[in-house]
Amino acid sequence: MSEFVKVAKASEVPQGSAKSVEVSGHKVAVFNVGGTFYALASACAHRGGPLAEGDVDGTTVTCPWHGWSFDLKTGAATHQAASVPTFAVKVEGEDVLVSA
Ligand code: FES
Repeated sequence: MSEFVKVAKASEVPQGSAKSVEVSGHKVAVFNVGGTFYALASACAHRGGPLAEGDVDGTTVTCPWHGWSFDLKTGAATHQAASVPTFAVKVEGEDVLVSA
């Protein structure tokens, strides 16, 4: 099982924002939705668009390149038979940690 790695201070990912980080060689997009953090592979399952730069509505992120949407909880695409990997994320004090 992978170790949790500190990727950011919670204050660096304010509510409603996302940050692109690297964990154990994986590029990961960390999202803060109303104080709950989610972590997905940062590359869109379609053509690798930057999901950390996508619009978030509830717990759905929309890729800025061609509009595919993904559930932040499961990584599943909402309208296609596709998905992106999700990663465990937790907050300890001021630190955001991801296991990848
Ligand atoms: S690369 Fe994300 S929708 Fe095309």
